[in-house]
Amino acid sequence: MRISIGTLIGICALVQVSEGAVIDVPTRGERDTVDGPWDNIRLPENIAAKAYTMTLNINWGTMNYTGVQEVTMEVTGDDTKYFLIHTSGLVIDKTATTLHKVVGDVVTDLDIKRTFMDTEKKAELRHDFYVVESTDAVTAGTYKMIISFAGQVQTEKLTGIYRSKYIRKYQDDTEVPIYQISTDFEPVDARTAFPCFDEPAQKANWTTSIKVTFPPGIDINEYNILSNMPLKEAPTKENQIISAKFKESVPMSTYLVCFAVSDFIFKEAVHTRADGSTVLMRVHARREPEFQASASYALQVTPAIIKEYEKFYKVNYPLEKLDQIALPEFNSGAMENWGLITYRESSLLYNPVTSSTAEKQRVCSVIAHEVAHQWFGNLVTMAWWNDLWLNEGFASFVEYYGIDAAEPTWNILDFFYPDEVTTAMNFDSSPSSHPISVQVSSPEELSGLFDTISYRKGSSINWMMQKFMGDENFATGLENYIATNKYGNAYMVDLFDALNPAYGGVNVTKVMLTWTLQMGFPYVTAALDTTTTPGSTIITLEQNRFLVGDAKEDDTSEFGYKWHIPFSYVYKVKDGAVETGVTHWLMADDESSKTITVEKELEWIKGNADGNFYYLSNYEEATWTALASALQNGELTSATDKTSLVYDVFRLAETAKVAYSKALDMTKYAKAESEYVVLSRILSEVLTAGDGVRSDETAYTELWKYVAAMLKPRVEDMTWDPKIDNEPITSPKMRDMALRNYCRAVKDKSDAYVVEALNKFTEFAKDPAGKKSGIKDVFTTVMRTAIIYDDTENTNWHKMWKLLQDSDWEADQRIYIAALARSSNTTVLRQMIEDSFSEDAKAGTWRYLYYVSYHGDNYDLAWELLQSRWDEYAVQYNTTSFTMGYLVQIPEVFDTQEMYDEVKKFFDGKESNIGTGKKTVEETLAKIKSNIKWKKEHFESVKTWFTDLGSK
Ligand code: BES
Ligand code: ZN
Repeated sequence: MRISIGTLIGICALVQVSEGAVIDVPTRGERDTVDGPWDNIRLPENIAAKAYTMTLNINWGTMNYTGVQEVTMEVTGDDTKYFLIHTSGLVIDKTATTLHKVVGDVVTDLDIKRTFMDTEKKAELRHDFYVVESTDAVTAGTYKMIISFAGQVQTEKLTGIYRSKYIRKYQDDTEVPIYQISTDFEPVDARTAFPCFDEPAQKANWTTSIKVTFPPGIDINEYNILSNMPLKEAPTKENQIISAKFKESVPMSTYLVCFAVSDFIFKEAVHTRADGSTVLMRVHARREPEFQASASYALQVTPAIIKEYEKFYKVNYPLEKLDQIALPEFNSGAMENWGLITYRESSLLYNPVTSSTAEKQRVCSVIAHEVAHQWFGNLVTMAWWNDLWLNEGFASFVEYYGIDAAEPTWNILDFFYPDEVTTAMNFDSSPSSHPISVQVSSPEELSGLFDTISYRKGSSINWMMQKFMGDENFATGLENYIATNKYGNAYMVDLFDALNPAYGGVNVTKVMLTWTLQMGFPYVTAALDTTTTPGSTIITLEQNRFLVGDAKEDDTSEFGYKWHIPFSYVYKVKDGAVETGVTHWLMADDESSKTITVEKELEWIKGNADGNFYYLSNYEEATWTALASALQNGELTSATDKTSLVYDVFRLAETAKVAYSKALDMTKYAKAESEYVVLSRILSEVLTAGDGVRSDETAYTELWKYVAAMLKPRVEDMTWDPKIDNEPITSPKMRDMALRNYCRAVKDKSDAYVVEALNKFTEFAKDPAGKKSGIKDVFTTVMRTAIIYDDTENTNWHKMWKLLQDSDWEADQRIYIAALARSSNTTVLRQMIEDSFSEDAKAGTWRYLYYVSYHGDNYDLAWELLQSRWDEYAVQYNTTSFTMGYLVQIPEVFDTQEMYDEVKKFFDGKESNIGTGKKTVEETLAKIKSNIKWKKEHFESVKTWFTDLGSK
């Protein structure tokens, strides 16, 4: 008999957001349970894992392992007979599975009727459930299940329990592969390592023992095993076997469980608190001296970051130790496993002699991000994956405070708007964007959620909330949230509800749901009236949805695409000063417009002061003109205000709300702009507009002249090497951006800067080890210029290819590949892609093609190669979260209907092997559509604007 239980029960929490208004907030992500609980992607709610005692026995020679998982569970409610546990790709010894009732110290056996996998019931189910059915239904109480299993360490992919390797070179030139075993579980790969209740809300205490048997010939004294918790006692090392037992963990989610086996060595530091308690911090890396020397920076910043977060969250880091390990092969950038954070080497190691400032910033931010998760994510965890943004968006926000504490001279908070907000808005203005909070129903969908929306829109709206609440109120509310939910789980409304009492203004939950439950963002049009009441200005505000391209047919929102908007602004009083206005709320349910009165006559206003909030500002023609002058004459002083003004005007130009020529005109003053964030925004807007007219040779030539002229004053104003010690971080950034783009734009091999770059390349290629430190912050410029101005024999290209092969530093490898990919010679590029499939290709096969696709001249080639080698790419990457997205994004640069059809046709029918890139395909197609629209609407005017530059 098939009984259909409704899908709706339990999916949503009804949240009262204001008098009478109730909103469905997705929570559990249910499916029908037709035959039994295994039909549902979610574990049954009446069984909770409480503790695991796990033993793993790994054979280093065969890369096989066996294990025993003992899970203690709390059953609530009576009449339970199905015990479901996640497992995938493991061999379970079904006859050895046992079930027990636990009362105090007394453990009694229960009869098992049968055990089965969900797929035995329905082949199409992929819920990864192993079901243990008890003969008699059990009542509420404590139970225990013991499962013996066997598995294989992954050697072909970097998820679950996997093997990584690097090549150790000896002085006599012999090369030996060195292996490590480590884990990477988020979101749902813990189940591929051992049976477990693999959902974030199933927090339990883990007691782990790991035994590794090594083949003869390996010196086991050099090897160590790390896990989330400290060792319980010194490990035993005898007869080629290392045996390690770890202390019981705090309650934690399965995706955070981790261990690592390697011959790495470490450096350590101690964080000591006022009360004398300590945290032992270690950074583990390869033994080779350059790697060890590169571990110190992480140890320098981590204590400062932890200290800051203990203040920020007002809860101490809860473990005795924090290990951080740099793995030679790693899926993403880093993973926040509790007490044992795993990184790819380039995200943790910084070589003080040869690494660039950009690398330093990357390392500091990845550490700050992962350490932020130790509280937001690990201590308090999202209840279900639909709130992934709570984890990622919050860590991406708090990260900035961690960096600021570790590197106070960087003024990193000034980069929040340009790096987070604009990136999020670019993505979120597309009709194929999605709300922050979404329903997920499959592991692929889940992995696809690790995207710009979860990270950057997430961070942006947290920032917005902090700014409208005020930093202190926000801190009070956050303290309340962490204290209430620690060692537990929370939905997004729990966060908003905890923050709300700390703020006396509008209801935080009510406001925030308009930003999390609907996709996109508004633009606010501010119209000034200075004539009705002389001496006063009446500002009329109106909000509208901002969208690039056409909305999808079924596109609706329960808020009708209106938001609760904190409208902040700066203004200039006629013949007076620039001042900041008081923030006003423009509510979704307001009448269509709202007015503010300022008791002064104003020349202009600029909305969204300091770019703190997540919307665009639009004005009437006269205000735009006044703002353009304010930008030029330096009246508008805040770098973020200038940046957001430029950003907004281009977005509004793209959607035909402002004339394109007006937006481009605003960039004409850029020669005089010396602030890095502003100039980099202007450059990026000009290059984007220019790329749209690349098919017109005259306009395109003028574009490059314009760029070269814009950057000339900057390159003349700087030296290739730092002039002073401890220069502000914007100096190396400016140096890198200005020189790199100037050399590219000038198109003249005899230009002094190009000549200098080419010389530096020649010198470097002769002596890479000796010459790197002298060009570390202009490394990209030197490498790219060497390729852009290469001779017909491709001499530099071949030299650089060799440099790449000899390099074991991933950050450098990426710069080489990106430079090599700039070649205009398609024969070498084809060969490069061919070679990228070799087993020892550096920095990941996908990266070569991705970088080729970056350059206007190579768009067609990249697309052709993506198609012809699709199967190979898909097999390798369709389960990895970020990479597949990058690959399927390659054709997003096209701008014709013909190409749209071609791309669509290619991906149609490939759904099953696109894996985690499915959503990105949709986004890519939407991007092509919007390019087509752009071309139709703006090609002529942009072409004319650039062409006219030449005739002046
Ligand atoms: N939790 C993620 C790691 C992750 C990413 C797991 C994708 C599963 C899928 C981690 O905290 C993270 O976000 N890492 C980033 C670096 C960070 C600085 C943005 C990464 O890997 O790029
Ligand atoms: Zn993260």
